[in-house]
Amino acid sequence: MEAAFHIESIPIYGRVFLSPMANFSDSPYRKLCRRFGAAFSFCEFVPAETIAVRDPDYLSMLRFEEEERPLIFQLFGNNCDTLAEAARVAMEYQPDVIDLNMGCSVQQIAGNGSGAALLRTPLLAGQMIERLRKTVPVPVTAKIRLGWDDSSRNYLEVARILQESGVAMVSVHGRTKAQAYTGTADWSAIAEVKANARVPVLGVGDVLNHSDGLDRIRKWGVDGVLIGRNAAGNPWVFKGMDRSLVPPEEILGVMLEHFRDMLRFYGERGCILFRKHAARYVRGFEGADDLRAKLLQTATPEDFETNVMRFIANASAPIL
Ligand SMILES: Cc1cc2nc3c(=O)[nH]c(=O)nc-3n(C[C@H](O)[C@H](O)[C@H](O)COP(=O)(O)O)c2cc1C
Repeated sequence: MEAAFHIESIPIYGRVFLSPMANFSDSPYRKLCRRFGAAFSFCEFVPAETIAVRDPDYLSMLRFEEEERPLIFQLFGNNCDTLAEAARVAMEYQPDVIDLNMGCSVQQIAGNGSGAALLRTPLLAGQMIERLRKTVPVPVTAKIRLGWDDSSRNYLEVARILQESGVAMVSVHGRTKAQAYTGTADWSAIAEVKANARVPVLGVGDVLNHSDGLDRIRKWGVDGVLIGRNAAGNPWVFKGMDRSLVPPEEILGVMLEHFRDMLRFYGERGCILFRKHAARYVRGFEGADDLRAKLLQTATPEDFETNVMRFIANASAPIL
């Protein structure tokens, strides 16, 4: 099979991927999406300052399983030395790629010089990429937005500086930091980045499903697309299947499988961590509100499974 594109020497066999999402794109969910067709795994971001000092709570976020590969770790930070140290520590876990987050719009992060704030200091971002390149033996990539706000849409300048600094791929979310998640993503701007780039460019923002992703790839010329919000509770998006056509028993069966994998990976804590996924899986079913309410209260794996099995036994067609 021919690779769709390469991240430096790493062949990528596909063009549709799960976007990094804090609290969602953890190892069990990445693994499921990868098995359903997502062509690589992009980890949720981790703060460089915690990894640099080997904080065990955050180091545990770097755990992954082999079948997730190729695997991208994403770091955020505002300081070259800390980032470099974090990348050095992260390499002990042997990711395939290290990514710099330059898109997070949340105040705690962007207000602290990290995430999307780096769009305002593109030279610093370039130094970070150069430094990471010197520090780690794997490709270094970045995920950006179009700029800080409408009056500073500097995506072409940012992408040029990142490339001059040695970035191996750029993912572009077609919104500014000020937009956060409002309005619609500007794919013509994403296409401009691609038209001016020597490295692969992935487009991000509002991709509805697999075929919409492929349409956008054809229309805007990007190498691939990341799907974020529309992939929550919906790994079928990577199979090119419309979730509304998936039989409810199959949705709940996959949900149970995901739940059991969370327990295996996290221990009993997986029960609580799974709640947000459960709420997504059951969305749209007849009786979903009731089931969701029950699942959000269950604190033991046995209760969880009993509730789901009872629901499956009584399930009627979805009312999507
Ligand atoms: C809950 C949530 C968490 C996110 N966490 C991250 C993250 O850790 N790293 C990152 O680069 N982007 C993160 N994003 C942004 C997404 O990766 C993506 O760029 C954005 O949601 C737009 O794509 P979509 O319209 O397909 O959701 C997050 C988005 C959401 C909704």
